[in-house]
Amino acid sequence: MQSLLNKKIVLGISGGIAAYKAPELARQLIQEGASVQVVMTEAAQQFVTPVTMQALTGNPVYTSQWDSSIASNMAHIELSRSADAILIAPASADLMAKLSLGLADDLLSTLCLARDCPLLLSPAMNKQMWEHAATQRSAQRLNTDGVAILGPASGFQACGEVGMGRMLEPVEITEQVIAFFQKKSLAGKKVLITAGPTFEAIDPVRGITNHSSGKMGFAIARAAVEAGAEVYLIAGPCDLETPLEATGKITRINVVSAKEMHAATLAAADCDVFFAVAAVADWGIAKPAKEKIKRQGKAAPSIEFIANPDILLDVAKAVKMKGSKPYPYCVGFAAESTDLEAHASDKRQRKGIPMIVGNIGPDTFASDFNQLLVIDETGSKKIPQAEKLQLARQLIGLVAKKI
Ligand code: CTP
Repeated sequence: MQSLLNKKIVLGISGGIAAYKAPELARQLIQEGASVQVVMTEAAQQFVTPVTMQALTGNPVYTSQWDSSIASNMAHIELSRSADAILIAPASADLMAKLSLGLADDLLSTLCLARDCPLLLSPAMNKQMWEHAATQRSAQRLNTDGVAILGPASGFQACGEVGMGRMLEPVEITEQVIAFFQKKSLAGKKVLITAGPTFEAIDPVRGITNHSSGKMGFAIARAAVEAGAEVYLIAGPCDLETPLEATGKITRINVVSAKEMHAATLAAADCDVFFAVAAVADWGIAKPAKEKIKRQGKAAPSIEFIANPDILLDVAKAVKMKGSKPYPYCVGFAAESTDLEAHASDKRQRKGIPMIVGNIGPDTFASDFNQLLVIDETGSKKIPQAEKLQLARQLIGLVAKKI
């Protein structure tokens, strides 16, 4: 799936050591379907060459407003007229200061002043420069002017220091650019999601779990952040990275057992939408052993199970009213081996929830793809085979209409 198909992006590169990441960023934007037009400041060319950027993007690279080879010699207007966004990465402290004041003394700054499309900046600088009152003032002003500021991140810096000011990685910038273009159907809403498996300990080294990869729940979390929501992701044991973490719009709480997931979820249940995507163990171990159960000289142990709490049922029971609308709007998931529609409909009734989503599969757990059966009060609707992120975006679209 290419999430930036038909998008025209002007990629501005200003002077800073993080410019070495710009070729990789251009490559990723193109991989997502965007066409990329590069504009470089004079300082940027000290770190990466226009030839590199031209070879990667397949487009001429602009470096000066005095270029007589451009037919109309109005590159500063032409370039932004046809663009869907200008993305500057890295954005230096100097460039941010310039843009915040509306200065236009080279092609990139002139282009930004003359633009009629959104501007996104990914700052990169030494931590003292980032923390300086002047830079913070620039960032604040640009933010007020509607410029999207992506990052920066904290970490190891080229100057040898550790702190705030590192440019986001190309993959994070690309994800945020993709998010920027998604419809903001959940702006201002709080979304709670359970994802992944749970793990029920038998002793300190053994336990019972299931095949859930967490991919669908994490895809829904990403799609919800893209749609403008503030997201709480309660994750069972899985090694997936938190999506769009650098936006600061997602809080991840890692849990292990169903009991822990139950407690963490109920504590965050004051939300607008709840997606119960986790494959929660129905039974826990009654008395997990404190020490490892030794095999030597013993017969196979018998394990006593106890019922785990039903997280979705408990959230659904605690639904409150906001005007005429109940909240949170609860969405359950069902993975069945037979009669998906009948079992899922029955679960929807039993748990007293407005919507349930059946995993049609065939391989629903580890795969990046799935197809879904969405059942609500109006009946059932199939969402055909697609990548989980694409399915998640469609699901978010459906749910956004309900709340
Ligand atoms: N669920 C939950 N807590 C549990 C069990 C399930 O929140 N203890 C949620 C799942 O996240 C999912 C939905 O309930 O959204 C259905 O899960 P499933 O395991 O299919 O339902 P069960 O009620 O366990 O039904 P059964 O095992 O009989 O199929």
